[in-house]
Amino acid sequence: MEKKLKLIGPFSQLLSMDNLPLKGALKDVQLEIVERAGMLISDGFIQEVGNFDSLYKRWHPEADYIAQNGDYVALPAFVDCHTHICYAGNRANDFALRNAGSSYLEIAEAGGGIWNTVSHTRDCEEAELARLTVDRSNTLLRQGITTIEVKSGYGLQIEEELKILRAIKRANGDTAADLVPTCLAAHMLPRDFAGSEDEYLDLMAEVLLPQLKAEQLAARVDAFVEKTAFHAGSIKPYLQRARALGFDLTVHADQFSTSGSRLAVELGARSADHLEASTATEIALLAASDTIAVALPAASIGIGCAFSPARKLLDAGASLAIASDWNPGSAPMGQLLTSACVLATMEKLSNAEVLAAMTFRSAYALNLRDRGKLASGMRADFILFQTDNYQNITYYQGSMQPSAVWKNGNKVFSIEQ
Ligand code: NIG
Ligand code: FE
Repeated sequence: MEKKLKLIGPFSQLLSMDNLPLKGALKDVQLEIVERAGMLISDGFIQEVGNFDSLYKRWHPEADYIAQNGDYVALPAFVDCHTHICYAGNRANDFALRNAGSSYLEIAEAGGGIWNTVSHTRDCEEAELARLTVDRSNTLLRQGITTIEVKSGYGLQIEEELKILRAIKRANGDTAADLVPTCLAAHMLPRDFAGSEDEYLDLMAEVLLPQLKAEQLAARVDAFVEKTAFHAGSIKPYLQRARALGFDLTVHADQFSTSGSRLAVELGARSADHLEASTATEIALLAASDTIAVALPAASIGIGCAFSPARKLLDAGASLAIASDWNPGSAPMGQLLTSACVLATMEKLSNAEVLAAMTFRSAYALNLRDRGKLASGMRADFILFQTDNYQNITYYQGSMQPSAVWKNGNKVFSIEQ
């Protein structure tokens, strides 16, 4: 019979990501690195992290011993706090048009962009959407991501948004990753809606949001504040209504023009994401708040635009998370670690800042306090890289992938499988 306790190790290094501040710049010397480490797991949660030999002496043979032969670095599994992976279709043509000189906004205005994906997603059955979402979740899981936020936003009608969020719920049961659903009905004003921005948002707040509560389909609401999407003036009452219903808030903010991050801070949103256009004013507002600034470097790479001012945000004292933004339009790559490593070289981020941005800081953006650190009482969600030096993880810029991924104390992926 399987024992309740598991002892795993020794690891060449274990990065706990514990005892680090939620906000502000980090230096690599602040990282807690346990050499020749072991981890004791009880019922999917970490009971103890420490020196392997001492753990072995105390817990063998009471615990099931899982030996790690070779050099491995252990760290908390990654948390991707911003994705749009529940969609159908493909926007390779948008990508080609952008590289031929059209802008993301021009393509959207001409009827392509998000609207193109809305048409394909509306034509797709819930079961098929769930299957596509499971496939993409498993691609992220193999990259060491065990918690994945997934937005709706390609339905833009009550029934279609419900279909997407039901598909996400279904997909959550069919992947080892935890999927965290977010309602993004305020992604853009649908072209077939015969009414104003305010009328559309009223309808969503009146009918869709209470239904999400009733079916427990989402506990988070997002909005795209932008010239081609929604104005801050219309979004504010919508998000206030969502907040009054008990939803956590997050905002697509300052991607091409500012105003979204100010609103996010004012409403106490968990995160303000994108921020490519943020200036000193927005950086100061975010730094003074508890709203996590989320950089989405894969969207900058996908569109070919500036990166979010990650260095300035951290130096001003903000908390920074990094997410993949995986979506068919602006960020088709779906490679969190690679995109984070590119952001690191462009913005001069320390290893500690990059790893914090994909672990406990991104977990915090989702209001999840039980993951993102390897410490007693946390979920045993961790990943192993086959190396003896954690610096190699960012050095190889994503070409070195985890050799094993553990979720809730169980191995859910390994390269030997
Ligand atoms: O985060 N900016 C708005 N939404 C997505 C893009 C969605 C799409 O182009 O399909 C983003 O970049
Ligand atoms: Fe996005």
